[in-house]
Order: sequence, then structure tokens, then C-alpha cells
Amino acid sequence: MSHFLKLDEKKIRKGKPIGLPYIGSKKKISKKIVEIIKQNFGTGLPVYDVFGGGGAITAELLLNGIPVHYNDLDSNITEMFMRVVSQDREWLKTLIVSRDDFFIIRDKKNETVDDRLKLLINSFGNTSRSYLYGEKWSDEKYNLATRIIKEHDVFGGYKRTETYKTATRLEQLERLQQLERLQQLEVTNHDYKAFSNVENAIFYLDPPYENTKNLYNFKFDHQSFYDWCVEMAKKNIVIVSSYVITDPRFEIAFEFKKAHGTLGRGQQTSKYERLYMIKNN
Ligand SMILES: C[S@@+](CC[C@H](N)C(=O)[O-])C[C@H]1O[C@@H](n2cnc3c(N)ncnc32)[C@H](O)[C@@H]1O
Repeated sequence: MSHFLKLDEKKIRKGKPIGLPYIGSKKKISKKIVEIIKQNFGTGLPVYDVFGGGGAITAELLLNGIPVHYNDLDSNITEMFMRVVSQDREWLKTLIVSRDDFFIIRDKKNETVDDRLKLLINSFGNTSRSYLYGEKWSDEKYNLATRIIKEHDVFGGYKRTETYKTATRLEQLERLQQLERLQQLEVTNHDYKAFSNVENAIFYLDPPYENTKNLYNFKFDHQSFYDWCVEMAKKNIVIVSSYVITDPRFEIAFEFKKAHGTLGRGQQTSKYERLYMIKNN
């Protein structure tokens, strides 16, 4: 088992990671992943973030001036990302909703992209299903958050107690809005196989994990995905994020000793997140 990609930790960008709150988000290690790409492969090649999800890697790449293609089969998530970056700080404030409104929105038949953002931002564990604050204190906490955000115009910088979760989430979205180079961002909603003809690029691939309950909206066949990676690696640099890949054509290129994803670790075979690459490539 080799771990051949280098990472000089001193060069990792200071400051907070960015991206939407999202199931399986790479936010905890996105700064490291992008730094690994920079240190090992430079900044000249375009990166295809094919399973882009909440955009943590895409946003970090943009911040580093690396050309990036943001894709996710699920247009719901890329639409939310693009909506946030196209709006301003005042609009962000409209995203906080009370417990009552949360359930009204949740049970709507046709949700708008703003509705979906409200559910995401005000939900517990980013699942968009249950409200952020428990029933007993939800009104009080919502009122307090509203006062801080709307009256005092504050998203962050105060003591981060439970009550201020909503404001902290808005603060994260505000960092997305401050991204530059967004006009260079290409966004698509294809199945990964749509990129089969791409050459001379870096593929950063963060697919649904093996051996875990699929949390996303689509079925995923890992064997054909691995076959596709092997093909693509003949003309591109292919990097796959996973806790474990059982296919013997892959090897571990980097292991994140401390960072964990947002998925529970119970079902994982390795407790560390890793980057895998195709052998002899
Ligand atoms: C582990 S998540 C990616 C998380 C992302 N890196 C982040 O930081 O937020 C996996 C993503 O793959 C997407 N997906 C599932 N099947 C796909 C397919 N066949 N092609 C492209 N994307 C797919 C899901 O919608 C989901 O957003």
C-alpha cells in the first residue's frame, strides 16, 4: 500500500472551508484535497468535479484560481448552489424560517429552489426533513436568530452557542457569495459517463460510497463506475474519494488521518477518508 501523493500542510489555505451544507459534503477536507491537487498536479489543468454535490471542492478550486467544471446528476443541488451565488446578503436573510413555516414548505407539492434552500438551511443534520431546533425551544430560538440576523445584521463573530446555528449557516452561504471567477464556472447535470470523451484533465470523483446505504436519489453501480475510471485514467488524472475501494486496480494515494466525513462511521471499513488512484498510472 503506497501513499504517494504529497501534501505540505504548511501551504494549506488559512480560513474556513466553503460550500453548501450537504450529506456527504467534503467540506472538512476540501482545503486539503485542493492543496494536494495543486502540489502534485499544478494549477494548469481543468478539474472536473463530476459528483460535485454541495460544491465544497468546486468552491475551493475556484478560490485557488483553478478552472473547474461543476457537475452533479441531481440538478436540485447545483441549482441551490448557483442560486446562492447569484443573490446578495439581504436575500440570504429571507432563508431563515420558523418551525411552522418549515413544515408548510416541506409538505408543499412543488417546491421552488428557494423552498429547498430553506429546508436545507433550517434542518437538523442537513437532511431537509426535521427542523433545526427541538419543538420546546424552537420559537424562542427562531425569534432570537431573527433578531440577530435581521435587526442587528449579524451573521457571525459572536459566541457560537446552539441558538446561533442559523446565523452561522448564513455566514457560510455568504462566503460562497464572495467567490470570484464564478463566470468561469461550467455547471452541468449529467451522469458521469457523459464525460467519457474528455482528455488532459483532472477528474476529482466523489461518488456515493461502497457498502453504505445510498443516501442519494439515484442507483449507483460501482463496478461499472470503476471500469469507467480505469478507461478515463488512460488520458486523464483520475482521483477518487472514498473510505474504501475493493477493486484491486485501485491503490491508496493519500489517507486523511484525522478528518472524517459527515457520514456515520459505523458501516465503513476504514475510518479514514482516502484518495484512490488507478495503479501504474
Ligand atoms: C458523496 S456526494 C458528493 C459530495 C460533494 N463532494 C460535496 O462536497 O458536497 C455524491 C454525489 O453524487 C451524485 N450522483 C449520484 N449518482 C451520480 C451519477 N451517476 N453521475 C453524477 N452524479 C451522481 C449525487 O447526487 C451526490 O450529490
